[in-house]
Amino acid sequence: MFGLLKQKAPWWGLFCAFLFLSPLTTAAVPDKAAIATAHPLATEAGHQILKLGGNAFDAAVAVSAVLAVVEPYSSGIGGGGFWLLHRASDGFETMVDGRERAPLAAHRDLYLDKEGEVIPGLSINGPLAAGIPGEPAALAHISEHYGRLPFKDVLAPAIRIAREGFPVESHYVRMATWRLKALRASESANSIFLHKGEVPAEGYLIRQPELAETLQRMADAGADGFYRGEFAERIVDAVKLAGGIWSLEDLASYRVIERMPIRGNFMGLKITSASPPSSGGIALITMLNILQGFNLPKVEEPQRTHLIVEAMRRAYRDRADYLGDPDFVDIPVDALTHPWYAAGLARDIQMERASQSVGNQNHEEGRDTTHFSILDREGNRVAATLSINYPFGSGFVVPGTGVLLNDEMDDFSASPGVPNVYGLVGAEANAIAGGKRMLSSMSPTFVEDEQQVAVLGTPGGSRIITMVLLGILEMAEGKGPTDWVKRPRFHHQYLPDQIQYETDAFDESMRKQLEKMGHQLKPLEHDYGNMQAVYWNKKTGKVDAASDPRGLGQAKIE
Ligand code: GLY
Repeated sequence: MFGLLKQKAPWWGLFCAFLFLSPLTTAAVPDKAAIATAHPLATEAGHQILKLGGNAFDAAVAVSAVLAVVEPYSSGIGGGGFWLLHRASDGFETMVDGRERAPLAAHRDLYLDKEGEVIPGLSINGPLAAGIPGEPAALAHISEHYGRLPFKDVLAPAIRIAREGFPVESHYVRMATWRLKALRASESANSIFLHKGEVPAEGYLIRQPELAETLQRMADAGADGFYRGEFAERIVDAVKLAGGIWSLEDLASYRVIERMPIRGNFMGLKITSASPPSSGGIALITMLNILQGFNLPKVEEPQRTHLIVEAMRRAYRDRADYLGDPDFVDIPVDALTHPWYAAGLARDIQMERASQSVGNQNHEEGRDTTHFSILDREGNRVAATLSINYPFGSGFVVPGTGVLLNDEMDDFSASPGVPNVYGLVGAEANAIAGGKRMLSSMSPTFVEDEQQVAVLGTPGGSRIITMVLLGILEMAEGKGPTDWVKRPRFHHQYLPDQIQYETDAFDESMRKQLEKMGHQLKPLEHDYGNMQAVYWNKKTGKVDAASDPRGLGQAKIE
């Protein structure tokens, strides 16, 4: 037998050499693992877990938990998110929906006064603005069903950092300054996130011993350590005392839901993204389907930008009309993501003339939420976007727990047609109801073909989906992750009817030409987004990763 093999070896050798050298072959596994997150401590924790023998899913739990500690302005165990998973061994893909849901006592007029007007601030500040958190349940679920290491081991880095503290950085200072009033309104938030009632200086150490205890309770008892028993009673009592409407049943009945991701194709690339209750995947596929009809690479500027804007406009109009929690409303997913439907939407796009959105309103834009991307050496991947909505969420910390509550209830349409903090309008599909999940824009995404895989996403409120779109368009042009994350950005969301843009996105000639077509332009005072991307070239086996230069994140390959 061995002799026979030996005799044949030259043939096999030649065959293997051919496979290795052939440009048609692809590497089965990446040569390294890659993690890109919005905070160096989270990236380090993810790699630490991989080194301990964990897989990408363990690393995702560790990264989520560390981000909950070091980015209290973006995400946390008082919030929720979507974790898009790809398992290499069998190609299985799922979206773990850990989105917050409305308390059972919530109703469509929760934030309206007697005249039916929205009461400003009620869905943003304090515990009445908070949905029932999904992140504790999601972390336990991912660890139990997809991870390899014990839950307590993957939570250990977050527990340590919560106990020992992390230094305040410039973004923390900006976000805490923005939310100073809300943080001062909660005694616990004030004592944890401020220093003597003021925004702490850079370098000041934020220690969260109570959050460490809460995470330790989860490490010992799993999700029940958060949603049941004496701890749950403490949360509900505090929320009620401060004007909220949570019940013990709200916490005990919270469930993670695994959902089939949304899929589509663009120029030979397969797109996999978030399904409802995120609008991300559907809006993304709608925009890409529209643009596919125009052979974009052959279109010159400024028509190219114009076409992208018109695709954005149409997808966001549908977002407002059709999308909400799929467990409460029927969403015509197949129709909305069908190329023929997009062809219909594209029919009234003129090459030289801006379309008109119907309605008008102004809005302010927040910077919130967080995203991370992970690829391990087995080829498992995770794209996760997590949020507590507005910076520092509702600003309310449950006393004695370190848990900062979200203000995700603002992602519902408080009153159909009235914009939320992102200026997004919604219809009945996203009206408030007890137990319902609020519509999101979070868009964790995979993009791939036979020879390459990308894992990407970003925070940025209503602009998340258009940022991911621009990143995919860069990839379709053959550019790498560094280009996707740094690309100057522009955005249109149907209403307000304007192109919002980073000032380096358009030069003067482009601005003039877009205006000549009838577009309203709104330069933004700040850049936006914080994209985290990972890339695997299957031809070479090489991986690459990039963290948005606008943020302080870290992309690391190891
Ligand atoms: N809170 C931001 C989002 O879910 O889109």
